[in-house]
Amino acid sequence: MTVHFIGAGPGAADLITIRGRDLIARCPVCLYAGSLVQAELLAFCPEGARIVNTAPLDLDAIEAEFLAAHRAGLDVARLHSGDLSIYSAVAEQLRRLERHGIPYTLTPGVPAFAAAAAALGRELTVPGVAQSVVLTRTSGRASAMPERETLAAFAATGTTLVLHLAIQALPRLVEDLVPFYGADGAVAVVFRASWPDERIIRGILSTIAAEVEASGIDRTATILVGPALAAEGFRDSALYSPDYVRRYRGGGD
Ligand SMILES: C[S@@+](CC[C@H](N)C(=O)[O-])C[C@H]1O[C@@H](n2cnc3c(N)ncnc32)[C@H](O)[C@@H]1O
Repeated sequence: MTVHFIGAGPGAADLITIRGRDLIARCPVCLYAGSLVQAELLAFCPEGARIVNTAPLDLDAIEAEFLAAHRAGLDVARLHSGDLSIYSAVAEQLRRLERHGIPYTLTPGVPAFAAAAAALGRELTVPGVAQSVVLTRTSGRASAMPERETLAAFAATGTTLVLHLAIQALPRLVEDLVPFYGADGAVAVVFRASWPDERIIRGILSTIAAEVEASGIDRTATILVGPALAAEGFRDSALYSPDYVRRYRGGGD
């Protein structure tokens, strides 16, 4: 018996990986984070599967589901939105499984920030403009931010920032960002990237909070900030330059 943690992707059912879909189809038990995982994905479960929405459960109750499946010898598909590597609360579940000696696997998924960048039609790393992406969040009820992980510290790099779980704090965040990116700094908000009701607001820092408030968007949105979002006239990367000897053209690394 194994618990398979699966990144279910940002929303659209066809953005799950083939491996993730096949695991769902093989597991007689499916636990899914109901707030963000599309119900459409549950159609991949085998007939008669036990399907549990974990949104109203606490960690002890989720652990009890794992233990019951373990006792019955039933594999579990555990679905989380986006990818498992950020803001998925997987770490604490793995720790409990390890305590019980229950085996597990992790299958990555398309993270929301990648779906948001795709919705915007933008690369987040643009030559000479931004070569790093900071994935961060604001303090919330679930998790406080470690002291040194301030928005100002990340903003000081001037690179692309992606803010999760932060849409309700936007007016306060803008105050922290303007000193580094300017009042006319490029910003975008993507609501429910890849869902049928996806919405995009592109703008500048000085006016974005008012636009978002007027839109009524107050959850499941990713905020992206930085010059890469509006970059024009940047140089080509060296990757496809005719002078660049690449490994696949018979050169070195
Ligand atoms: C608990 S985190 C989950 C992140 C997820 N593990 C990932 O890899 O993207 C939830 C936050 O991710 C962002 N998010 C999740 N799905 C999204 C989507 N489809 N469009 C935009 N933002 C999304 C929002 O900022 C939301 O508040």
